[in-house]
Amino acid sequence: MESLDYQIFSAIERCLSERGLTLDERSIDSIIKDIKAWLRPSVEAKGVVATQDGSLTLISDKYGEPYHSLTAGAIKECLVKFIEPSEIIKKAQKGKVRILDVGFGLGYNLAVALERIKAVNPYAQVEIISLERELPEVIPFLPEPYKSYQKLLLDGLPEFCKDGISFRLLLGDARESIKNIGSFFADGVFHDGFSPYRNPELWTYEFLREIKLRMSWEGIWVSYTSSLPVRKALKMLGFGIGTSQSIGRKRGGTVASLSLKDLLSAEELRKLNTSPYAIPFRDETLKAEPLEILINYRIDVELLKMAQGGLEPPTPRFSAGCSTN
Ligand SMILES: C[S@@+](CC[C@H](N)C(=O)[O-])C[C@H]1O[C@@H](n2cnc3c(N)ncnc32)[C@H](O)[C@@H]1O
Repeated sequence: MESLDYQIFSAIERCLSERGLTLDERSIDSIIKDIKAWLRPSVEAKGVVATQDGSLTLISDKYGEPYHSLTAGAIKECLVKFIEPSEIIKKAQKGKVRILDVGFGLGYNLAVALERIKAVNPYAQVEIISLERELPEVIPFLPEPYKSYQKLLLDGLPEFCKDGISFRLLLGDARESIKNIGSFFADGVFHDGFSPYRNPELWTYEFLREIKLRMSWEGIWVSYTSSLPVRKALKMLGFGIGTSQSIGRKRGGTVASLSLKDLLSAEELRKLNTSPYAIPFRDETLKAEPLEILINYRIDVELLKMAQGGLEPPTPRFSAGCSTN
C-alpha cells in the first residue's frame, strides 16, 4: 500500500501539472506537512463517548473527529454555537421559523432547537430542511426533554409533517442535494460539517454560495468554526460576519448574515486581510474530491506566501480543477 506521504505527494504533482505550475522541493515538503497535520485524527477515542456536560456523542471513524465538542459538551454546543446565535427562538416567538440544517448527524442540533422553540411557543410553525450524506449506524440519544424530539426526527425520516413541524431530510452529498431543495429561504442555517480541513467540500466558496441562495435577507448562518478560509468565503459572498461565544476552547464560532455589518475585532480583521491562509477553499464544479480541494487551497497559500515574501511565484490560476484519483 502507498504511504500517506506518497499519496499526498502524487496528488500534489497532479494538481500542479493540471494547473501548469511547478514548485520547488521545499514548498512541496511544506504542503505535505500541512496536509498531513490537517488530516490527522483529532481524538484517539472511538465509538460513543461522554462529553463535558454528560451528554453522549459519537466519534466518526472516517474523520477521526467527534460529532460534537467533547470539551464544551454536546448539548451546550447546540445551544451556544447554533441555537442562540441563529436567533431562531426570537423568530419562532413571532410564529414561524425556517431552518436549513447542513449535516444532520445525530439530529442533536435540531432536537435541541425544536425543544427550545416549542418551549417558548408551542404553536410555532417550524419548517426544516436537513442535508446529510449518510446516517451513522449507531445513534446515541440525548437525555429528556430533547430525546422526544430526537426520536420524532429519527422515527419520521426522511420526512414528516406533524404538530406544526415540517421536516425533510435530503440524503446524499449536500453539494448535489442542495440543488433539490426548491424554493426555501432559511431564517437560520446550522452549518455543522466536520472541521473544514477534514471535510472541505462543505466549506467551499461555491457550496456557501449555494447556501446563500437559500437564505432570507435577514437569515443568520451559524457555525462552530472561525477558520480563515470559511470566513474569507463568507466575506467574498457579501456576508457581514461576527464571532459567536467561545465555549470549550479559545476561539468562538462564526455568525454571518447578509443584513449584518462586520462585527469582528481588529485582530480578527487583520488576520482575514493579511494571512496567506485567508483564501477560500474552491470547488467550481461542486464535485471535487476533498483532497483535491485541500491541495489546491494549500498550493494557493504557498503562492501567496511567495508573493508576500517578495519571491516571484509561478503564475497562479485561481481556479482549481485537478483529479486526485
Ligand atoms: C459534525 S457532524 C453533524 C452533527 C449534527 N449537526 C448533530 O447535531 O448531531 C457532520 C455531519 O456532516 C455530514 N457530512 C459530511 N460531509 C457531507 C457531505 N458532503 N454531504 C452531506 N453531509 C455531509 C456527516 O455525515 C456528519 O453527519
